[in-house]
Order: sequence, then C-alpha cells, then structure tokens
Amino acid sequence: MRFHVTTGGATAQRTDCLMLPVYQGGPLTAAVKAADRVLGGTLAALIDSEDFRGKAGDTLLLPAAGDLPFRRVLLVGCGPRKDFDRQQLRKALSAAFGAWRKTRLKRAACFLTLERARGSDAARRARIAAEVWHASAYRFTAMKSADEEPSPAASELTIACRGNEAAAARRGLAQGDAIGQGQNLARELGNLPGNICTPSYLAQQARRLARGDRRLQLQVLDEADMRKLGMGALLSVTAGTKEPAKFIVLRYRGAAQNKAPVVLVGKGITFDAGGISLKPPPQMDEMKYDMCGAATVLGVMQAVKLLGAKLNLVGIIPSCENLPSGTATKPGDIVTSMAGKTIEILNTDAEGRLILCDALTYAKRFKPAAIIDIATLTGACLIALGRYRSGLLANSDRLARRLEKAGELADDPVWRLPIDPPYQEQLKSNFADFANVGGRDAGTITAGCFLSRFTEDQQWAHLDIAGTAWQQGPQKGGTGRPVPLLMEFLLNG
Ligand code: BES
Ligand code: MN
Ligand code: ZN
Repeated sequence: MRFHVTTGGATAQRTDCLMLPVYQGGPLTAAVKAADRVLGGTLAALIDSEDFRGKAGDTLLLPAAGDLPFRRVLLVGCGPRKDFDRQQLRKALSAAFGAWRKTRLKRAACFLTLERARGSDAARRARIAAEVWHASAYRFTAMKSADEEPSPAASELTIACRGNEAAAARRGLAQGDAIGQGQNLARELGNLPGNICTPSYLAQQARRLARGDRRLQLQVLDEADMRKLGMGALLSVTAGTKEPAKFIVLRYRGAAQNKAPVVLVGKGITFDAGGISLKPPPQMDEMKYDMCGAATVLGVMQAVKLLGAKLNLVGIIPSCENLPSGTATKPGDIVTSMAGKTIEILNTDAEGRLILCDALTYAKRFKPAAIIDIATLTGACLIALGRYRSGLLANSDRLARRLEKAGELADDPVWRLPIDPPYQEQLKSNFADFANVGGRDAGTITAGCFLSRFTEDQQWAHLDIAGTAWQQGPQKGGTGRPVPLLMEFLLNG
C-alpha cells in the first residue's frame, strides 16, 4: 500500500473512492457538505431521509455521476459525534477499508482523519489510519492451498489533514505503516503452526530481518552454547523434545554507541504441551501461540528497522518446545539457572519463567536502560484481566508509569499488578532456592515474583500477554499485541 497525505478539499480529490464521515444524528461533516454541493444534494437527501444513518461501522458505496474527479463516494458511519473518540475512529476506518477491499477500486481518499476524534491529533489519526489499514488487510493465507478471495485492487490510500498539519500527518502515517507491518509480522508468526514455526524458524525470521541492514546484528546460540553459559533452566524445558532450542539475540544500533539500549525479551515457546505436567486436550492447539512474546520482539524490530529509528534496542528470544517424553524434566527435578540460583520444578507447565529467567540474566550484559519481557505467561492473567488489558508487573514505578501511558495512547492498554514481598513467600521450596510455581492463588503475580528474582538490580518490567496476544471465536488468531504499546514506548515514551 502506498500512503499519502492531502491538505486539499474533498471535491478536489482525483481518486476512485472518496471516503466521507457521517455522524449519527448529525451534523453533516465539512467533507460531506462539500461533496454534496457538487453531487446536487443527493448525499444530504440520503442522510436526511435516514437511508444512511451513520451508525458506527455502517458504510454505503455510491456512484459519483457527472464530470467529477472522484468515481465513487463511500459514506462511512462514525456514530454520534459526542462519542467520537479513537476507538470509534478505528471502528469506522476498519469498516471503510473493509468495504473498499471488496471493490475493484485502486485509490481511495479518506476524510475521516479530518474529524477531531477525542484524544487524537493529526499525527495520531494518520497513524491510526495506517495501522487500521494493515489490520484490515491482514489475512492468514500461508497454509491455504488456494486463495479464498481475489487479491484486492486497493493500492493507494490518501488521508486528509489540515493545511498546517501535513508534516505531523506524514510522520504519523510513516509510524502507523511501520507499526502495522510489525504487528502483521507478529500476527503471522503467532498464527503459524508449531510444526512450521519452530525455534529454528524464528531464528530464520530474525536472520531475514538482519540481512543487509548494517544497524542490525544477529547472533543465534545453540544448545551447546547455552550449556556453556550455564542456562540450566532453559535447557530443562527443551529436554523433552528433539526439536533444537535456539537463543536468538538481535541488536539494533540506531543511536550513539554509548546510549544504553532497551532490551526486549520475548517468550518463544513454539508449542507448550505442558511437558510431563501435561495440559488437558481441549484447546491445546492454542499453545502454538506461546511464542507471541517472541513474535512481538520480532514485530517491534521490524517496525524499528522500517522507521530507521534513532535508538538502541536489543531483542532476546529464548525459544524451544515444551513436550513430554522419556527425557523430559520431571516434577521435583532441581535445576541450576544461569544466575546460579537453584529451582525446584514442581510443575513443568510453568516453563515460560524458566526460559525467561536465563534470558533475563543474559540481558544484563548489555547494561540496559530498561529490560522489558513479553510473555504469554499465565492462564491466571486471562482470568484476572481478560483480553483487553495486558498484565504489567515491574520493579520500577517510573518504568511502569511510562508503559501504562504508552499503552493508553496506543490503544494497547495494560493494567499493573503488584509484586509485593509477601507474595514471594509462595515460591518457598524445602529443597532448592525456590520453586517454579506458587500455587493457585495470584498466579500472575507469583510468576512475576519468580522473574523479579533475576532482575533485582535492573529497571525491569514484565508484560503478561496471555489474554491479549490472540483472539478466539470467528476472528481466531494472533492480534500482534503489544507491538503498538512497545513502539509508542520506544518512539515517544
Ligand atoms: N503458556 C501457558 C500460559 C497460558 C495459558 C497462556 C493459557 C495462554 C492461555 C504457561 O506456560 C502455563 O502453562 N502456565 C501455567 C502456570 C501454572 C502451572 C503455574 C498456567 O497458567 O496454568
Ligand atoms: Mn506452560
Ligand atoms: Zn507456556
């Protein structure tokens, strides 16, 4: 998709599809009024007669007869004006792009971005437009033997802004384009099945990103390297599978060498059967998404690379499968982590924290400004927060507040949970330094407590994305979250 900005009026647009915002219950928007004048009052008549009510998500495609620079008008419902906020804008844009994709129209000019959605400026609206475009254009086709729909003609999108907003809109558009692509990469990796998207496959994807880019440098450690580093916790998880584990380190240098990087650590369990503590069969297929933390890291790297962002970033992906077998780790086994701490593995299904703790220890060598890990870590997080907000746990109030703010702005929100010392008690073990589980109570918090023991001297935050990284139901699939949150944090946080 080619994106452009226009400061021209609606009737001046040489385009195939002129997208015009309509509020439910009025008033008519400036763009509709202008188009209505050259269309002989037909738009106002349709809206007055309530043939088109402007409900959020409704669209109506109309021919533009006569000698006009635009061929079609797409009326797009935005809901009541008093409710028009970023969410409504997203909904309306999504409907508009969905309707456009069903046509053979190549070029569209969108005037929804001219409307002042609450909590947005021109840059934000442009960014949202590009993000929503990528989300509505995403289809998972990699594993389908035949196309289910014809490839759409849509190829050029112009968004409207005011005369003094062009630079801001262009910047927002570029960000949204990059973030949307990064998010789609994360969606795609999440959706790919465990037999394709293996640890080696993730390493290949990292290689593809790094190739030919001087700012990106890739290192992939194999199990022998991990053994040398003493990553006993990570290795205990991969013990039950023949599929080789990979430890992926992707460095991006876009700022001065002495500027401390942010380190992102993404959980990369490419399939989580639970190990010897085997999961029950229902919905076990969804455990292919257990590498969505890793997918987020690669999605963010993709977006940062596309933008050529002036920042330093390290992505670390510990990746393996968690399967049962005769060589698998058993409940009661005690392992030694890279940090030297011993862990009693009471439940082999609490494997995410075991691969993350060694990655968090490894992360320290980069002397990071902050470490943020991203993981589909606990079912308890789904119970606590559902699928709207990701869980946030942190040992730094400042870092937590910055992430909270970034999440709100990016419409990719989080909710902070505590990691007070009393919760640490639940990890007590009679036989090792501590256990890998803390019982049923406060499962998301005790997982955070476990991780906090490996980041004591660091600015660290943990995002539990078990609920937000994928959707169920007819839209089943990866969401690409929290790529928007992390990009907001990295670019403006
Ligand atoms: N990958 C799962 C967490 C998960 C569960 C994500 C459901 C998305 C949906 C994780 O490895 C896991 O199995 N966690 C256990 C921890 C428990 C054994 C302490 C869980 O949440 O049940
Ligand atoms: Mn598990
Ligand atoms: Zn898991």
